[in-house]
Amino acid sequence: MFKTMTPPRMFAMVSLMMIIIMVVCTGLIQAPFFRQSIIDREAVVVRDLVNALSLEHGVLLSDFQDYSSGQARQHFDSSFGTLKRLHGTARIKVFNRDNIIVWSDDPTLVGTKRTAHPERLAAAMRGEMQALFNPSRNISGIAEHGQPIIGTIECYVPIYLHEIGTTRMDAMGVLSLYRDPKDLNQTIQKDMYLLWEVIGGAGFILFLALYKVFSLVYDRQKTAESKFSKLTLEHERIVQIEKMSAMGELVGEIAHQLNNPLVGVINMAQLAERQVHDPQRVLELLAQVRKAGTECRDIVQRILRINQISRSELAPTDIQDLIHDTITFCQQSVDLKHRVDFSTSQPKTALTVDPVLIRQALFNLIHNAILAAPDKPVHVALTTCNRDGVNGIQISVTDAGDGFGPEVAAKLFKPFFTTRSNGNGLGLPVAQHIAIKHGGVVIAENLTEGGARFSIWLPTGATP
Ligand SMILES: Nc1ncnc2c1ncn2[C@@H]1O[C@H](COP(=O)(O)OP(=O)(O)O)[C@@H](O)[C@H]1O
Ligand SMILES: [Mg+2]
Repeated sequence: MFKTMTPPRMFAMVSLMMIIIMVVCTGLIQAPFFRQSIIDREAVVVRDLVNALSLEHGVLLSDFQDYSSGQARQHFDSSFGTLKRLHGTARIKVFNRDNIIVWSDDPTLVGTKRTAHPERLAAAMRGEMQALFNPSRNISGIAEHGQPIIGTIECYVPIYLHEIGTTRMDAMGVLSLYRDPKDLNQTIQKDMYLLWEVIGGAGFILFLALYKVFSLVYDRQKTAESKFSKLTLEHERIVQIEKMSAMGELVGEIAHQLNNPLVGVINMAQLAERQVHDPQRVLELLAQVRKAGTECRDIVQRILRINQISRSELAPTDIQDLIHDTITFCQQSVDLKHRVDFSTSQPKTALTVDPVLIRQALFNLIHNAILAAPDKPVHVALTTCNRDGVNGIQISVTDAGDGFGPEVAAKLFKPFFTTRSNGNGLGLPVAQHIAIKHGGVVIAENLTEGGARFSIWLPTGATP
C-alpha cells in the first residue's frame, strides 16, 4: 500500500498515526495520575469530616476499647453513620488500635479483624493518610441499577481524639471507607476527553505545520529535479549539436582537402582532351593527374588511419624499447638525418598499452619537433610524473624551435589545424586521442629558454 503512495501522503499517514499514538499514550499515562490526585484530595476531605464529626458527637477514647457498650454505639452511629450518606459509599469500617472493627455500617463485622490491607491500616494508625484505587476489588452487593461496580476507592484516615492527655499525633483508630469509583471514573473520563481534545488539537496543528513544511520541501525538490533533468536534456542536446557541428567541420575539411586535387584532375583531363594530338603533353598531363590522384588516396588513407585508432590491442610493453624503436623509425622515415637523443633515469618501465598506437603518437610529436627546428637536435626524455594525485610516466619531446603563439596554442589539438604549407593538421589531434584512450593526455608547453615541449603523460597501469 505504501509503495503506491506519494511521499507527502506517506508522510501524512505516518505522522498522523504517530500523533494519534502520542495522544492515546499521553492519555493512558496521565489517567492514573489524575485519579490519584483526585483520590488524595477526597481523602483529605474525608479525614477532616471524620474528625469534625467525632469531635462534634463526642466520641471518646474509651469507646474504642468498650465498643459494644450502648454509649459507644450511640457515639459511633451518630458520628460515622452520617458518612453513609456520602455519595457512592459502599462500606465503612472503624478500627481501634488492636485492628478490631469497632463500628461498621454492616453490624456483623463489629468485633472482627477483617481487613485486606493490614499494612495500610498500620500506616494510617501512624498518622499517614492512605488513599488508593483498587481496580481488582469489587465490594459485593452494592451494584447500583444492576450494574456491577468495577474497582473500589479505598481510603484509610486516622481518627484523632481531643481528650485531655492526648495529642493530635496519636490516632486512636482508623476509619476505612470504600467507595464506588463510578463518579470518579466519570470525572477522569471527562478530564481525559478534555486532555485528548487539547493534545489532539495541538497535535493536529503540529501535523498541519509539518505537512505544510514537508510538502513545500518536497515540491521544491521536485522542481529542482525536473529543472535538473531539463538541464541534462539541454546539455545532451548541446553536446549533440556540438558533435554534429564538429562532424560538419570535419566533413567540410575533408571535402576541402579532396576538392583541390580533384579540381586539378578535372582541369588536367580537359586539357588532355584538347591536346590529344600532342602525345608528349598528354603524357605530362596524365602524370599530373596521377599525382593528384595519389594525393587524394593519401588523404583518404589518413582518414582511414584515424578510424583505426578506435581499435586498440593492449599488451605489456617496455616503454624504453618503444621510444628507441620510434626514434629509429622516425629518423629513417622523415628523411632527415636528424639528431634525436633520448635520456632517462628510469629503470625498465613496463606498461600495458597498445604499442602501435603509442608509437604512432610519439612519432607525431618527434616529427613535429624535427620540423619545428630542422637543424637543431630534438631531445626525448622519460620521467615519472604525478598528475592530480595519479602516478604516471611522461614521455616528453623537446625541440629548440620558435615555440607557438597563443592563437596557435588554442587550436593545437583541433583536427586539420595546421600552420605548415604541407601539413595535414592531424598529428597532434591523433596523438591526443591516443593518449586519452590510454587514460592519459598530451601536454603542450612553450619553454622559457625557447622551443617547445610536447609530452605524453600516461597513468601507470593505465588501461584504455
Ligand atoms: N614542436 C612544435 N613547435 C611549434 N609548433 C608546433 C609544434 N608541433 C606542432 N606545432 C603546431 O601545431 C600545428 C598542428 O600540428 P599537427 O597536428 O602535427 O599538424 P601538422 O604537423 O600537419 O601541421 C602545427 O601546424 C604547428 O603550428
Ligand atoms: Mg604534425
